[in-house]
Amino acid sequence: MQIIDGKTVSEQLKAQFKQKIDLITKTGRAPGLAVIIVGEDAASKVYVANKIKDCEQIGMKSVHCRLKEDTTKEELIEAINCFNADPTIDGLIVQLPLPKHLDENEILSHIDVHKDVDGLSAYQTGRLALGIPELKPCTPSGVMELLKAYGISVAGKNAVIIGRSNIVGKPMAFMLLKDNATVTVCHSRTVNLTEITKAADILVVAIGRARFVTADMVKPGAVVIDVGMNRAEGKLCGDVDFEAVKEKVAYITPVPGGVGLMTRTMLMANTIKAYELYGK
Ligand SMILES: NC(=O)c1ccc[n+]([C@@H]2O[C@H](COP(=O)([O-])OP(=O)(O)OC[C@H]3O[C@@H](n4cnc5c(N)ncnc54)[C@H](OP(=O)(O)O)[C@@H]3O)[C@@H](O)[C@H]2O)c1
Repeated sequence: MQIIDGKTVSEQLKAQFKQKIDLITKTGRAPGLAVIIVGEDAASKVYVANKIKDCEQIGMKSVHCRLKEDTTKEELIEAINCFNADPTIDGLIVQLPLPKHLDENEILSHIDVHKDVDGLSAYQTGRLALGIPELKPCTPSGVMELLKAYGISVAGKNAVIIGRSNIVGKPMAFMLLKDNATVTVCHSRTVNLTEITKAADILVVAIGRARFVTADMVKPGAVVIDVGMNRAEGKLCGDVDFEAVKEKVAYITPVPGGVGLMTRTMLMANTIKAYELYGK
């Protein structure tokens, strides 16, 4: 069994990004990422701080806009429009969750689709579904990078995804399909889940239930990718029972140290891509 080390892959990619930005800034401006955060959610503050740290590490410009908890819809849209119009900003994200009085879908729809580095707008999702992706959702795109880094080809493989969210499960399916895997997407209404997961050469789990996937649910020699991030007994753990499953499979991602770091890294990748495609 080999553990897929997200930290190493992420550091390697960030070193490549830094080289690229060093080259770019010899003659022009650095790519820029703006992050808007509304309110005082403690976890969100940590996520945003990490994103800013990543930007600094690779020489990317970052702007951090903090708005108060009672920010109105109009004020938030004004802030978004401001960054949409800023030619030094290539990527824009609004950190979720938003305070309850703000409709997330409505707010996100105001981000310029060419700056949508979370890749979750209808435009970017549509492009992915059509097989002409541009800015891909960061978590599944991080999973694809991990597979690539470990030389794991998905073509012709039986890939099973548990979870059908717009952020992970669905875009994951499109990416695996594009690379010629045979894809099955499971969810809470799936019947005989174990029968399906036991046939998976590649199993991606994104459900949000601590240690849900047990050893009897996986095929010997499978590749298991654990997207889950849960707290159990005060510790961070994935959706897969890592200790039991790792004995049976060929490759597995740990939590922490697997997919999570790649999500942050792919945000950097998307910002550079947006700069290359649309930067002025
Ligand atoms: N590592 C990262 O960077 C990263 C990024 C995003 C998310 N995550 C983590 O990944 C997990 C999933 O996130 P998400 O946003 O995709 O979650 P989500 O929107 O809550 O979706 C969960 C999915 O799992 C399915 N599901 C729930 N219970 C199930 C069961 N017993 N059997 C089969 N399917 C079941 C749901 O089915 P229905 O559709 O039928 O309800 C749904 O499709 C969470 O732990 C989250 O924290 C990690």
